[in-house]
Amino acid sequence: MRIVLGVGGGIAAYKAASLLRLFTEAGHNVTVVPTESSKQFVGAATWEALSGNPVSSSVFDEVEKVNHVRLGHEADLIVVAPATADLLARAAGGQANDLLTNTLLMARGPVVFAPAMHTEMWTHPATAANVATLRSRGAVVLEPGIGRLTGKDTGPGRLPEPEAIFAAALAAVDDGAAEAPRVLTGSTVTITAGGTREPLDPVRFLGNRSSGKQGTALADAALAAGARVRLIAAHMDVPAPRGVELVRVETALELRAAAHAAAADSDVVIMAAAVADFRPSEVVDTKIKKRDDEADPVITLVRNPDILQELVHARDTAGTGIPKLIVGFAAETGDANGDVLEYGRKKLARKGCDLLVLNRVGTSLVFGQDETEVRILSPADSGQEAVESVAGTKADVSARIIARIAAELAARSD
Ligand code: CTP
Repeated sequence: MRIVLGVGGGIAAYKAASLLRLFTEAGHNVTVVPTESSKQFVGAATWEALSGNPVSSSVFDEVEKVNHVRLGHEADLIVVAPATADLLARAAGGQANDLLTNTLLMARGPVVFAPAMHTEMWTHPATAANVATLRSRGAVVLEPGIGRLTGKDTGPGRLPEPEAIFAAALAAVDDGAAEAPRVLTGSTVTITAGGTREPLDPVRFLGNRSSGKQGTALADAALAAGARVRLIAAHMDVPAPRGVELVRVETALELRAAAHAAAADSDVVIMAAAVADFRPSEVVDTKIKKRDDEADPVITLVRNPDILQELVHARDTAGTGIPKLIVGFAAETGDANGDVLEYGRKKLARKGCDLLVLNRVGTSLVFGQDETEVRILSPADSGQEAVESVAGTKADVSARIIARIAAELAARSD
C-alpha cells in the first residue's frame, strides 16, 4: 500500500518515527511529508533514512514530478501524526500552503489525523469545530491520549500510541475498501452536472430545475471506483465532491467547449447535465426595463447545439475511439404518443451514444430528490427484459451506473 505520513510541528514528531517503522515493517511504501516547522523537531534526513524515500515539505521541490498532485492522488492512505491545532485548522479550511496540505486536498483514499497538542488547544471551540468539519467530510480524527503533556500540564492532548494509530489507519483502509471495488483505476471520467443558465440580460437568465445531485453522486461513485474525475459543473444546488477536477461553466455553449476539450483525453464522458435546448437569441448588455410607452418585450429563442450528439459525431469522424464510452441521460415523462421506454430507445438511437440512462420525470419526480429510479439502455439490448433497471438513492443508483460503465469499458478492451 502507498502511504503518505504527514508530520506536524510538535514535540511528538519523534513518535512518528515509530509509526513509520510499523508501516514499513508491514511492507508498506511510505512517503513522509513533514511540515516546515516539524523539521525543528525531526530533520528530513531521519525520515529519508527510515522510509527509504525522498522527503519534501514544499510544492516547489521536484516540481517536474508534480508532487503536490501526485502524492495525494496515488496514496492509498494518508496519516497525519502528530496533527497540531494549526494543521487541523489548515486542513479544515482547505488551505494549500505547503506540500502536506496540498496532498490532503488531493486525497482520494482514507485520511487519518492523530492529534497532539496542549489540552487548552484541543478543547478550544475553534479546534473542536475544525475536528467536526474534518469528520463530517469523512476523515478519521482520533481522540488524543490523556496524560502527561510536554510541560507541567496533564489532560487530553497526547499523541495516541503509534500502535493505536497504526491499527486505526488500517481499519480506515478496510472500511474504505468495503465500500466500492476500484474498478475504474487508471481511467479518466468526465461528468457534466447541474443545469445551464442562459442569460437574457445582466441580471436574468433562463434556467432549469436540475440540482446537480445526480452528477455529483456519479462523481462520488466514480472517485470511489478509483477513477480520475473531471466535473464540468453548470449551476448546482450542492457542492462539488472533494477530489474532482472542477470546471465551472454557466451556459450551454461554455459547457460545450469544456466537454469537447475534456473528451479528448477521457475514457468516459457522462452527460448528466441538464443542458438548455434553447437560448435567448440576443443577450442585452443592460438590464431590460419595463416601459409604459413600449410594448412588453418578446424573447426569441435559438437552438443550442446538442452536445451529446456532437461528442459522438466528433469521436466517430476522428476515428480515435476516444472517449471509449459516451453516456447520455434522458428525462422523459411519457405522453399520449408513447411511453417512457419507447421515447428512451428513440433518443438513444438519435443521439448515438453507448449507454442512455433513462429517468422518468414529472415536477415532483427526480429533480432535487434523493431517491430515483432509472433504466440503463444500450443499443445492444433488445426487448424490455434486457434493460437494466435500478432504484434507490442517487448514491446507490450512481454506484450501479458506474459499475455498468466499468463493465462496458472492460468488454471493449477485451
Ligand atoms: N444534451 C446535450 N445537449 C443539449 C441538450 C441535451 O448534450 N443541447 C444531453 C443531456 O446532457 C442528456 C441528453 O442530451 O445527456 C438528453 O437530454 P434531454 O434534454 O432529455 O433530451 P433532448 O435532446 O433535449 O430531447 P427532447 O427535447 O426530445 O427531450
